[in-house]
Amino acid sequence: MCKIIVTGAKGQLGTELVKMIKSGQSELGQLNDFYRDVQVIAADLGDLDICDAQSVYEFVEDARPYAVVNCAAMTDVDGCETNSAQAFKINALGPRNLAVACENVGAKLVQISTDYVFDGCKKSPYVETDSVAPRSVYGASKNLGEQYVKNFSNKWFILRTAWLYGYEGNNFVKTIVKAGREKGFLKVVNDQIGNPTNAVDLAWHICKLLKTNEYGIYHCTGKGECSWFDFACEIVKNFGIDAVVRPCSTDEFPRPASRPQYSSLKNFMLELTVGDQFRPWQEALKSYSENIQI
Ligand SMILES: NC(=O)c1ccc[n+]([C@@H]2O[C@H](COP(=O)([O-])OP(=O)(O)OC[C@H]3O[C@@H](n4cnc5c(N)ncnc54)[C@H](OP(=O)(O)O)[C@@H]3O)[C@@H](O)[C@H]2O)c1
Repeated sequence: MCKIIVTGAKGQLGTELVKMIKSGQSELGQLNDFYRDVQVIAADLGDLDICDAQSVYEFVEDARPYAVVNCAAMTDVDGCETNSAQAFKINALGPRNLAVACENVGAKLVQISTDYVFDGCKKSPYVETDSVAPRSVYGASKNLGEQYVKNFSNKWFILRTAWLYGYEGNNFVKTIVKAGREKGFLKVVNDQIGNPTNAVDLAWHICKLLKTNEYGIYHCTGKGECSWFDFACEIVKNFGIDAVVRPCSTDEFPRPASRPQYSSLKNFMLELTVGDQFRPWQEALKSYSENIQI
């Protein structure tokens, strides 16, 4: 029996991953036989604060896991801008602590990162070899987290995802559904392009990679790209909401953190290794709308 620690286990991704490993299945199919003999240790803030270096070291040393999947993060992009100390503690020092602890027991480490490590100036989807140039505190803190994981552990996977939504927690899909119902009219930015990603699809690919030795950086996002406006239109359609959605520009909605205009990712390294089974984003959203009550 091997152990897998999932940190941030109560977040959007952590919830899906824990559920998937425990049940051995998901919307995308059965997990590999490897997961029959796995014990999941689900840890969130109350159990383990990833910012506490000593606690992390002891927790991992006691458990002696096969792998740690770090789903914990400070994901409030604008909040990171106004509280950069907290952002760097959670998004950079947290993964650093886990990397040091994993190295001590020879465990694999899966670190989840973001499309916001890129500046968004490219005109075609970013691949794993493209240079990073974060434009926000969130992006910079996640980027430093990536560097620390690479520097302080050997058996690492860094998975960059984007525009994530899961059944648990808050996300863009739930916001649009609620606001659409309440107001009947929405203005959504049409000049930021990315890849909506269902947390189930990401958890599935974590499970595919985790049991291999194919270490490295992976882009892991839903297939196809769109603007937040396109995404909102598809949400309103799928949830049968009677609301008018109008496009607007980023300039009309100034926010504390600057976002990349174009942060679409290509899952190139996945294609070359375990395979890219991310669903087209519209299909993954449809499935989500059929499985959730909002
Ligand atoms: N959401 C997105 O659109 C998006 C896009 C790109 C990349 N990502 C990345 O994907 C990963 C998963 O994101 P998500 O949306 O699932 O995040 P999430 O829903 O915000 O969950 C993060 C979890 O981590 C917990 N946490 C916060 N600080 C912690 C600490 N110091 N120690 C232990 N746990 C802590 C949070 O607890 P509290 O809720 O109590 O704070 C929460 O349960 C993150 O690495 C994120 O950066 C997300």
